[in-house]
Amino acid sequence: QQAAKLSDLLLSWYDSERRILPWREDPTPYHVWVSEIMLQQTRVDTVIEYYQRFLRELPDVKALAEAEEERLLKLWQGLGYYSRIRNMHKGAIQVMEEYGGEIPGTPKELQKLSGIGEYVAAAISSIAFAYPIPSVDGNLLRVYARMTGYEESIRTTAARKVATAYYEEILDRTRPGDMNQALMDLGATICLPNGAPLCGKCPWQMHCEARRTGKEQQLPVKEEK
Ligand code: ADE
Repeated sequence: QQAAKLSDLLLSWYDSERRILPWREDPTPYHVWVSEIMLQQTRVDTVIEYYQRFLRELPDVKALAEAEEERLLKLWQGLGYYSRIRNMHKGAIQVMEEYGGEIPGTPKELQKLSGIGEYVAAAISSIAFAYPIPSVDGNLLRVYARMTGYEESIRTTAARKVATAYYEEILDRTRPGDMNQALMDLGATICLPNGAPLCGKCPWQMHCEARRTGKEQQLPVKEEK
């Protein structure tokens, strides 16, 4: 009941306020894969141009698999963390050799691909395949801690576990990719990490424990594990 209420509030907000981003226009598995790998360690503003150029040059998984490493490193220049593109290249070759060129749609299969961990597997499967799974990143951990008044450090496996269970509970199974991307937008534009979050604009303000108890500045706790 409460869960359905929360997902409705969030998705209505997303439908009117969502950010227009290039990877949201045609969220094929390949497009989402490229964007999520870039977004893992690089800000949205920076990623946009790299993403568009990357897809112009390498429009599908086959083109990526067949590309020379030197060319890939050039396309990646400025993004940093070059292991990301080396691993993704290996992953694309796996898709061609082991999956007949079709990117798999379940988190379990996706995680067998080089460079795809738990978070990216959840993001690709939910956004491109409507697979019902939360993709828990730092934004979702912060939103979780504030919503529930979670006072322990969010930098632990235990925190990730309870946050995942929370989001599984409220997940709208008809729109899992939009749920995850709505939470990313909420974290990036409203439930901001530092200083004052913009609680007055938040679709969940009436349901947020941190807001109720005046702890939006103190949460989340981020002690090293
Ligand atoms: N950060 C990681 N994935 C994202 C997405 N799909 N949209 C916006 N920000 C993101």
